[in-house]
Amino acid sequence: MPSVSFDHIVKKYGELTVLDDLNLSIEDGDFLVLLGPSGCGKTTLLNLLAGLNDVSSGQIMIGSRDVTDLDPKDRGLAMVFQSYALYPTKTVRGNLKFGLSASRLPKEEAEKRIAWAADMLQLGPLMERKPAQLSGGQRQRVAIGRALVKHADVLLFDEPLSNLDAKLRTEMRMEIKKLHETLNPTVVYVTHDQIEAMTMATKIAIMNGGEIQQFGSPDEVYENPANLFVASFIGSPAMNLFNVDIGVVNGEVVGTFSTGETIVLSAYPFERPPQAGAKAVVGLRPEHFARPEEASGDTALAIEVPVRTVERTGSDAILTLNFAGGLLAVRAEPDRAAGMKAGQMVPVRYPKSKINLFDAQSGQRM
Ligand SMILES: Nc1ncnc2c1ncn2[C@@H]1O[C@H](COP(=O)(O)OP(=O)(O)OP(=O)(O)O)[C@@H](O)[C@H]1O
Ligand SMILES: [Mg+2]
Repeated sequence: MPSVSFDHIVKKYGELTVLDDLNLSIEDGDFLVLLGPSGCGKTTLLNLLAGLNDVSSGQIMIGSRDVTDLDPKDRGLAMVFQSYALYPTKTVRGNLKFGLSASRLPKEEAEKRIAWAADMLQLGPLMERKPAQLSGGQRQRVAIGRALVKHADVLLFDEPLSNLDAKLRTEMRMEIKKLHETLNPTVVYVTHDQIEAMTMATKIAIMNGGEIQQFGSPDEVYENPANLFVASFIGSPAMNLFNVDIGVVNGEVVGTFSTGETIVLSAYPFERPPQAGAKAVVGLRPEHFARPEEASGDTALAIEVPVRTVERTGSDAILTLNFAGGLLAVRAEPDRAAGMKAGQMVPVRYPKSKINLFDAQSGQRM
């Protein structure tokens, strides 16, 4: 399975520059998720790779082939669209077969591939039905099957699950992941759903405003967000972000919140030592807060502050606390949250090893 690379890609629509000098490359067998808010250029980038749209400048490689100016059909890829785009008058079998119509395969080989895809996606009992007689998830499976029968080296998906309900989405997510593990094609998958990105990707490219904000494994972008955009985009509830002034107190580097509390930064792996008085934004993940009795030597922040709201979701609870002139989201066990009332004082601590720190001016990780 081939690698894919975008080299200095520029895409303009008239005066509007949608992608500006974008560089990105993935290895063969990678599952790349393009993740970002609406309008950031995800579909544009995918369509450039598919050949449905032309680059303004730059080069696209699939393996060792320069495909920049090739016809879509000569690029060796298959695409699954958000809208499924099934033929309403054809049966499931007919739709799968249609995926092969351009390839002029011998009938026997075509039948074999259709049977293989139907088996893989459990479409067997549905083969003679028309799309109108299928559920949303079944239609999506047919759309994926139609791409699979092509035996393409590179599979492209544009928000394939956004029309499905939550339960089906979870199921299809697992199926697509399983498919990738079994067949190991190179995948480029567009979504604005961070759960899809985190669960399926081997690599995530987080995009905003036509630029790649960070490229890395799901763990890397979650644990070490490169800037404030990524920090606030990945994670639910979102990372807590507070302004602090950096200084030295009793020989220890600390961040001082606007309301005077301090957080210990002495264990923070600064790339460069910060200037005293530097303005920073400290990022604290809701799930890394712990009860004070679980405290160990690595506590950076220990506070006791009033709770404002308690949201219990069943498996866990989100406490919103009043802190440092703002709101602090803390994930807690449901039994701890049970019976908690607004105004009640809640003690929590945060470990040194889980601190994120960003330059307040540039937004870059410090
Ligand atoms: N044919 C076009 N002409 C002019 N501008 C366009 C065209 N197609 C897309 N754009 C603009 O390019 C930008 C990126 O669009 P794109 O469809 O790639 O976004 P996206 O990240 O896929 O968003 P979404 O999540 O909403 O699908 C948007 O600002 C959009 O308005
Ligand atoms: Mg799109």
